[in-house]
Amino acid sequence: MMLPRGPREVRSVESLRELLAPYAPDVSAGATLSARALRGGLTADLTRVSATRPGAAPEQFVIKPVGENELESAAYAALARSGMSDLAPRLLGTTGADGQSFLLLEYVSRWKTWPWRDEPYARMVIEALARLHASRIEWTADSRYDAHLGTSAAYTIDLLRCAAQSFRDPRLSGGVRAVKALAARLPAARAQLLSAPVFLHGDVHPGNVVIRSERGRRRAVLLDWGRARLGSPFEDVASWLQCLRYFEPSAARLHDRLLLHYVRSAGLGDRITAVHRREYWVAAGSNALAGALGVHLSSVLAARTPISRARAMAAAMDWIRIVRRAVAYLDLSGDEPQRPS
Ligand SMILES: Nc1ncnc2c1ncn2[C@@H]1O[C@H](COP(=O)(O)OP(=O)(O)O)[C@@H](O)[C@H]1O
Ligand SMILES: [Mg+2]
Repeated sequence: MMLPRGPREVRSVESLRELLAPYAPDVSAGATLSARALRGGLTADLTRVSATRPGAAPEQFVIKPVGENELESAAYAALARSGMSDLAPRLLGTTGADGQSFLLLEYVSRWKTWPWRDEPYARMVIEALARLHASRIEWTADSRYDAHLGTSAAYTIDLLRCAAQSFRDPRLSGGVRAVKALAARLPAARAQLLSAPVFLHGDVHPGNVVIRSERGRRRAVLLDWGRARLGSPFEDVASWLQCLRYFEPSAARLHDRLLLHYVRSAGLGDRITAVHRREYWVAAGSNALAGALGVHLSSVLAARTPISRARAMAAAMDWIRIVRRAVAYLDLSGDEPQRPS
């Protein structure tokens, strides 16, 4: 069988038919297939396949190229072993060769394009995370996250220095000191965060969550498991709450309510304690250095108009405030603070 070698080839109907054959033989044999690119992701070049057969309801699939990254299919397997498959789209199969693998997934229809203005749906994501984190999923794949974090923190400092010099902005120069202080303390801080690691999604933001509606019941489904790893549950929680606030400013007022909802749903108590807040803000600071701040700094540097630059700058400053808060919490813990060099 000729295997498709890249996303463009996958869009040819014959290669789609071959790809579907082992997993959905009836569809592959009898359906009229059409394909189009799925937009919205940051990295992968996904294809949505629609299959129509006379007398049958139309079916839809997603084909996601994952290159040599084994993590995403390993995450699906881990979810299945723990009875948590309903937190993700159904994985129908994997295929590929020569370092070019594809996941064949069910297509999950969105109940609503943008449900995040309404608290109940933001809470559903929190509940899904609490379930995932409580699942005791065994994870042996090496996500190499700490190595990534070290590189990303150094890159973030470079971007910040570059932006501070280019725009001679004292807020950015102040940010360099804060980010260096956190980067220096991050290995020790992470050792604490990881005292009781759980299986994380690792990339929770509105583009990677769908509210699905089945037989009148709505629930959150998490897409895009390519960054699954072990870590502090608050890394996922902070990722969700901070991205939600960024993409849906009206959700800012929900921040503490949603954090409390996590604490309760995860069985961590009936109120947010100082220990929860500390872990949450240190996790958020860690996320900042893992790429969240860097994304906005890159936009500051690449902006073509004053308005887009101001927007990116506001987002970057927001993450710098989070970094400062993380450093303040680390100072509170009584550790000997390291002097930024
Ligand atoms: N199984 C699926 N069902 C419905 N939509 C999907 C599915 N998988 C991906 N998508 C859509 O495609 C986008 C990109 O997919 P994603 O897996 O997040 O790739 P990336 O790694 O590029 O972010 C998602 O944001 C979502 O809109
Ligand atoms: Mg994604």
